[in-house]
Amino acid sequence: MSQVVSKIAKIVEDTCKSENNIYGFSAWTHHIQSVVAFSKKLAKKKQADVEVAVLAALLHDYAQISDSKLYSEHHVHSARLARELLENYKYPEQKISQVEHCILSHRGSREIPRETIEAEILASADSMAHFDNLDALFSLAFKVKKWKQAKAESL
Ligand SMILES: [Fe+2]
Ligand SMILES: [Fe+2]
Repeated sequence: MSQVVSKIAKIVEDTCKSENNIYGFSAWTHHIQSVVAFSKKLAKKKQADVEVAVLAALLHDYAQISDSKLYSEHHVHSARLARELLENYKYPEQKISQVEHCILSHRGSREIPRETIEAEILASADSMAHFDNLDALFSLAFKVKKWKQAKAESL
């Protein structure tokens, strides 16, 4: 793992531990870590940029973990926050743009076209992680969000 990946992983893990994170630490253990693992696997298989895929996976839901009020537009806010964090580490601009695009287009419920293989990888890894951790998905929809079934279907 590169230094920037380790630093970002630590920031995201610590944010998941904080009291502001209404989803609990399982956001890290049952979702983000799983999205990272699937992203890494898919990126290697598809000969994509593994570092971009892993950074996008780490940061794709960062906004609502930091502040649950950002959930509805979290793809936009997470992309913006990812840019800010990566710029702080002087990460190359071209790679920041790639990470940003992956995050912006990761949601199945939004119609933002995915233009890169890494963006397809994040969206797939996100879904795969939900199917791999169905208990966490149901807990998010019905316990944390207190949604009714019709609303939960638009996750
Ligand atoms: Fe998301
Ligand atoms: Fe996610």
